[in-house]
Amino acid sequence: MRIGVIGAGHVGLVTGVAMASLGHEVVVSDADETKVESMRTGTPPFFEAGLSALMRTQIEQRRVSFSVSSRESVAGAAIVFICVGRPSDGISDTSLSAVEEVAREVASEASDGVVVAEKSTVPPGTADRLRTTIERERPELRFSVVSNPEFLREGHAIDDTLRPTRVVIGADDEHGREIMEELYAPIVQGGSPIIVTDVRSAELAKLASNAFLATKISFANALARVAELSGADVEHVADVMGSDPRIGRAFLGAGLGYGGYCLPKDVVSLERFSERHGYTFSILEVTSRVNEEAVAHVTDKVREAMWNLEGKRIGLLGLAFKSETDDVRASPALELARRLIAEKASVVAHDPMASDRARAEMPDLETVDDPYAAASGANCVVICTDWDEYRGLDLNRLRVEMAYPIVVDGRNVFDPDEMRTAGISYFSIGRPSIET
Ligand code: UGA
Repeated sequence: MRIGVIGAGHVGLVTGVAMASLGHEVVVSDADETKVESMRTGTPPFFEAGLSALMRTQIEQRRVSFSVSSRESVAGAAIVFICVGRPSDGISDTSLSAVEEVAREVASEASDGVVVAEKSTVPPGTADRLRTTIERERPELRFSVVSNPEFLREGHAIDDTLRPTRVVIGADDEHGREIMEELYAPIVQGGSPIIVTDVRSAELAKLASNAFLATKISFANALARVAELSGADVEHVADVMGSDPRIGRAFLGAGLGYGGYCLPKDVVSLERFSERHGYTFSILEVTSRVNEEAVAHVTDKVREAMWNLEGKRIGLLGLAFKSETDDVRASPALELARRLIAEKASVVAHDPMASDRARAEMPDLETVDDPYAAASGANCVVICTDWDEYRGLDLNRLRVEMAYPIVVDGRNVFDPDEMRTAGISYFSIGRPSIET
């Protein structure tokens, strides 16, 4: 099939390359010329494990190409995926002008029978708007609009695309449904379940899934506070809860809270969407609030351990919003760094991958290439991202490097007993503190 992908962010680029690997002819377009140039040489504009290698193979086999013109993606395509980022403030659920612009471009260039597949996370009702816009621009065009939400996680994006937990097709007409079922047939044959529903339910399901994951994390963070106050260990509580298959252990990790491009925005988007339709989805307001409190709580822990932050040297380990990515968008680690600096601490940070991007957001942030260098002379080390590299740190060496042997673990990556043995005072989230 000939497939067009508009927007080469995480979802768009990975979708395009993955579809090419299934044998389709794919044109990925993005308005950013530098990005397109780099993609043509097989270099993705962001880090994603395995993406560059897969991209190069597909380029060599001439199954994927890149263009600055979305018209090239649309011309002759059987399916056009709309993967443009949800624009502007990242908060409002109505700022969908990028999607509208794409709708006009699709209308001007599309062939009869085209299926326009919405992959960007959008408020329910966006597909209807897309349909109306295309109809207005080109009344004679025969086309379908479907919602095909994506559930890939950064860091696992290729596997999540080729072996997803579920394929969701929201279609209100038979043609759209059939073409999408044909596209996904090999993935469904590979064992992924498929759920076919109407367009609005698919749109809402995507927002609801992310909002629910965020709510689970905030529940764990609220629970962590109660555990701290009552002497329980939140990890043990979460293990007990999570062993009930109705609850599940995933996303019950207490810590600095959720960040990234999706969860924070989607919680707010669903909340506002509900409000606009006359329902106050109050759980979501609390979810966001508890998430903001999570960073404040870790800041308090560092301050408490230091007595005063002014003039203290803090080593931050981790800047990415989670491990296995160089993405720092809405990263709780950066928010923590800002708060510590605002209280006149000096911050030296390390991240295996995200330092350049972090400095692009915070030009004054001092970063080093080695976690022990971040710890060197530090009055306190704070773990902000759950990189495996940190789990494997030599704790005795860490203690020797530090001015004060104090670790605040914002992601509960260490075993408290190991810290005790290493002679380090250890303050984690929702677990009893260890003071040496
Ligand atoms: C999220 C969803 O997990 C994907 O299913 C979805 O497709 C994607 O958004 C999207 O809409 O594009 P992602 O943003 O890659 O994926 O990140 P997650 O793995 O969900 O992690 C989000 C944040 O939650 C991270 O900051 C992570 O550290 C935090 N987290 C996660 C916790 O604080 N505790 C946990 O137990 C799990």
